[in-house]
Amino acid sequence: MEPVVSVTGLHKSYRSDGLEKEVLRCLDLSAGQGEFVCVMGVSGCGKTTLLNVLGGLDTDFAGDVRVAGTMLRGLDDRGLSAFRNSKIGFIFQHFNLLDHLTCAENAMLPSYFVRDPAASVAARVAELLARVGMADKAGRRPPSLSGGEKQRVAIARALLLKPVLMLCDEPTGDLDYATADSILDLFDSLRREEKITLVVVTHEEHLARRATRVVRMQGGRFEE
Ligand SMILES: Nc1ncnc2c1ncn2[C@@H]1O[C@H](COP(=O)(O)OP(=O)(O)O)[C@@H](O)[C@H]1O
Ligand SMILES: [Mg+2]
Repeated sequence: MEPVVSVTGLHKSYRSDGLEKEVLRCLDLSAGQGEFVCVMGVSGCGKTTLLNVLGGLDTDFAGDVRVAGTMLRGLDDRGLSAFRNSKIGFIFQHFNLLDHLTCAENAMLPSYFVRDPAASVAARVAELLARVGMADKAGRRPPSLSGGEKQRVAIARALLLKPVLMLCDEPTGDLDYATADSILDLFDSLRREEKITLVVVTHEEHLARRATRVVRMQGGRFEE
């Protein structure tokens, strides 16, 4: 079976003030269904840049990047958003929830970008909030939640459109150790039970222990 993530010879540069800065150099990466790949590296090494490429947010790169059967270079904006909506769930360090919406409304947001009957969305949101342990807080708003609870809601939101791949950028960076561990337990059950593939980028060593594979990044390359 084709891997969910298949990257060969990925190069990425940023141009600013007429200067070209190479951030990713000849990266190869592959991740199968249900794998939890942890990409470790210090701040500034290119982790977020890599996730932006894998998630179809940045297509200005060289090399072959195939994610969930889609070749990412050459897709137009419409193709890219269709790809993101149907295949990818994004998780961020600062959760990126909307404070004036309830947990249920936050989790429902991705459905506005696709055509989905409202009734089935409401049922799916309820099911997902239960899945992440937030059923009793569906009507609360983010300012009244702990960091761990906010990340659970963000995970429910990321799951709404049934992603194949979850891309997580420092997902436990704002959480204490015990809370981080409970979020990692949730990731673990998602990959085992739902066979979701996870690519988590972080500088926190303890996340590596929960991964099925660890890759270390330095100077835009993966170390052997
Ligand atoms: N849009 C951009 N334009 C120019 N340089 C950028 C841009 N985004 C990131 N960079 C640079 O690329 C390098 C890698 O950034 P990033 O991927 O955010 O690293 P990390 O997530 O590992 O901290 C950094 O040196 C950063 O300053
Ligand atoms: Mg980053």
